[in-house]
Amino acid sequence: MKIHDIELRSIFDSRGEQTIEVTVIDPEGRRFAAAIPSGKSRGMREVSVFAFEAARASIDKIRETVAAKTFDTVGEVDAFLLGIDGTPEKKILGGNVMLGVSLAAARALAHEKKQALWEVVREEYFSEGEELTPLIFSNFINGGGHANNNLDIQEYLVIARTNGSIAATVRRLIELYRATGEFLKKQFKLKNIPIGDEGGYSLDFPNNFEPLSILEALIDENDLERECILGLDVAASHFGSEKGYVFEGKKRTGKDMQKIYETYVAQSKLLYSIEDPFGENDAEGFIALRRAMPEKWIVGDDLTTTNAAEIEAHAGEGAVNAVIIKPNQIGTIAETCAAVQAARRHNIKVIFSHRSGETEDVFMIELAKACSADAVKIGAPVKERLLKFNELVRLYP
Ligand code: PGA
Ligand code: ZN
Repeated sequence: MKIHDIELRSIFDSRGEQTIEVTVIDPEGRRFAAAIPSGKSRGMREVSVFAFEAARASIDKIRETVAAKTFDTVGEVDAFLLGIDGTPEKKILGGNVMLGVSLAAARALAHEKKQALWEVVREEYFSEGEELTPLIFSNFINGGGHANNNLDIQEYLVIARTNGSIAATVRRLIELYRATGEFLKKQFKLKNIPIGDEGGYSLDFPNNFEPLSILEALIDENDLERECILGLDVAASHFGSEKGYVFEGKKRTGKDMQKIYETYVAQSKLLYSIEDPFGENDAEGFIALRRAMPEKWIVGDDLTTTNAAEIEAHAGEGAVNAVIIKPNQIGTIAETCAAVQAARRHNIKVIFSHRSGETEDVFMIELAKACSADAVKIGAPVKERLLKFNELVRLYP
């Protein structure tokens, strides 16, 4: 596959913020685009994000040599990009620019091979992977940096398992989401409920446990206990670090936070997964919590940032037994696959995730399928987030 030219466009994400779209043009003039989402609750070890002007300079740099190359694999495209950049932080080209080119070029390659993007990536990196239908992590209640309410915890997730068709699972999630809205309106005597960045309800609650107990009651009431469990994304870097936390207005040590999670798990029979329960440099906190609740998923996101070496280290020391995979935390498809392979080597779960500022591009679902992800995390089943649910319906018929 040859790349004749590359174009860059400034587009808008679901928050109305500017982000980039990269288009690769092949010698026949066919166009292959990729739009890059943007995070707000970003880990400090995520690769750099370039604004439009700087991104344009990166594209110019790539264009200087790209036309002379022939690429037969995704890995070759990504090695070419990594060869130009050569920094762990992607500070020469920008991680968002590199991912845009990586994805758009992979789509061009897939076209040439008459395959889907997920097939090309699976064949190259996961030829032995068994096909799983992923669990769906759906954000029903928003707090933290994604909302204007009083919740310290960023996301309350309903986790749905598919037994029959994924479309039926999505429909049940939509119904449960609506029922949750109706319940909250009645319970808190509200006409309208504010909505957070990922579509979850974002009203004030008496405390950070209340949303869990409400969701648990609604799952029971709707007879969904066999299909749905609950998860949290605490995103604790927003209210503390290894030096201490401020939770519900009070100073807390890491040990205090662990006790809070233990109480939550004791009081909520459906709570099964806790993401980023401690700050991104507080691996000790993760390790202690993992020991205290070995049967739960303790998930790294800001801690691990889709970085194979970080995943190796933190899975190795027993800090996490699941990781969030966000391709734009690391910058290329090849490195995203390396992160998944690192997780697989340690036998830990892989959760592909959207970002809070999303676009219409559904590549995260395509990559999740390629890697046979254990789960996908895609927000509330509403508005722009439904694009990812729809792609699941398409790819898991
Ligand atoms: P972000 O957050 O996309 O705003 O960075 C999502 C998350 O913390 O999982
Ligand atoms: Zn997170």
